[in-house]
Amino acid sequence: MNELLLTDDERAHAGARLTAVLDSYERGLAEADILPAPDRAKLGGLLAPMPEKGIGLDALFDSWEDVILPGSTAVAHPRFLAYVLGPPNGIAPYAEALAAAINQNCNFWQLSPAASVVERSVLEWLASVVGFPSGAKGILTGGGSLATLQALATALHDRVPDFHRTGLQRDHAPLVVYTSVEAHRSVDKAAAILGIGLDNVRHVETDDRHRMDVGALRRAVEQDRRDGLRPWCVVATCGTVSTGSVDPLDAVADLCSEEGLWLHVDGAYGALFLLSESMRELMGGCARADSITLDPHKLLYAPLEAGCLLVRDGAKLRDAYAFDSSYLTVAEDPLMTDYMDYGPQLSRNFKAFKVWSAVQAFGVDAFRKANERTLELARYLAEGIEAIDGLTLLAPVTLTAVCFSVDGVEDHTALLEELAAENVALLGPVVVGGKHGIRACITNHRTTVEDIDLVLDRLWR
Ligand SMILES: Cc1ncc(COP(=O)(O)O)c(C=O)c1O
Repeated sequence: MNELLLTDDERAHAGARLTAVLDSYERGLAEADILPAPDRAKLGGLLAPMPEKGIGLDALFDSWEDVILPGSTAVAHPRFLAYVLGPPNGIAPYAEALAAAINQNCNFWQLSPAASVVERSVLEWLASVVGFPSGAKGILTGGGSLATLQALATALHDRVPDFHRTGLQRDHAPLVVYTSVEAHRSVDKAAAILGIGLDNVRHVETDDRHRMDVGALRRAVEQDRRDGLRPWCVVATCGTVSTGSVDPLDAVADLCSEEGLWLHVDGAYGALFLLSESMRELMGGCARADSITLDPHKLLYAPLEAGCLLVRDGAKLRDAYAFDSSYLTVAEDPLMTDYMDYGPQLSRNFKAFKVWSAVQAFGVDAFRKANERTLELARYLAEGIEAIDGLTLLAPVTLTAVCFSVDGVEDHTALLEELAAENVALLGPVVVGGKHGIRACITNHRTTVEDIDLVLDRLWR
């Protein structure tokens, strides 16, 4: 026993207190304030000097209950309907606890044999959901933004000869990446970080359903070729962050193959709706991408962080990230994967465990049903909004984002604040086609018809 360990008795006590905290948190959620009114004095107290002598278990658990929980946003509240951010699934805290205890380093398989196979199992399952071929490979990431960054780095490596050696420091015409005006800012961020330059990101116009206009995309590519630039990559979106629109993936894929462009699909928000066969017509084109971003911390309700990058030709992902090193001696094994060769990190935590555990515990169908329920609730909310005089839907409802405005109101901030203050719901602001409004995003497996009715009743007033 040393100073950083718990005795047998302390472990039993910590377990009991943790169970009690989790239990009372769960029981209190439906009545909790969605947005905490932060106790500034208590939060300020967190900045006190670190104790030279530890405060002990009970004082620590007390501080969790007195300061941390009351100062935390109730993301799991059934009417937390802002952003694409859902409540964790029920097994999450337990899987996270065990992952912390075994602390596997998911870099090369000798340090994490079971974890290596679990991650592979999650990735192969996700690749099959997307419809990728068996040669696809991937990696779990810190989120959708990182998955897209890692995808574009892979695309650079694939399309720029000798990229690892010379980088972009050669005297060549600029590479150009195309996305839509509705794309998530993580695309711009990735282009900026990778040295593509924001001037070389084309934000293509969208149609009346906020989907990338493929005619405009074609014209932009042709114009750039005429101007001597190098069209390189298209990032299409499967579920845009504001309205949930899905770009015409097949038409974009056709154009990419004609023009020899890498196609990345940002499916962080929407692509996992592919768990339902009924979504294949709308988003089946994801299967034609060179790479795709998924976000298990959204539609699989994994606790943060769990994003995912899948690359159709897995060898391209490995080529982009595998580096030899004398101090990491790795034995090849057909069952195992060394994930340090599939992404930028060396030390990596066991993200796959929480995803795998939840799918094992609840089954794929439970996630499918939860996601279908959120789609139905979004349609129900949209119908309710259409039925209320003075409210206008700002965009068609494709997935679970419902955007609307109050007629005659330019700035909806006050109404958003009132709804939050009354604990009716946390909704978010949105701008659609230049019009300001409110967005409800039902990425929440806990939301019920009664919750939506409560929001509609309040909006009715
Ligand atoms: C379409 C889209 N892409 C990317 C992201 C970024 O994902 P993350 O927050 O996991 O980095 C989001 C987040 O909501 C999103 O909706």
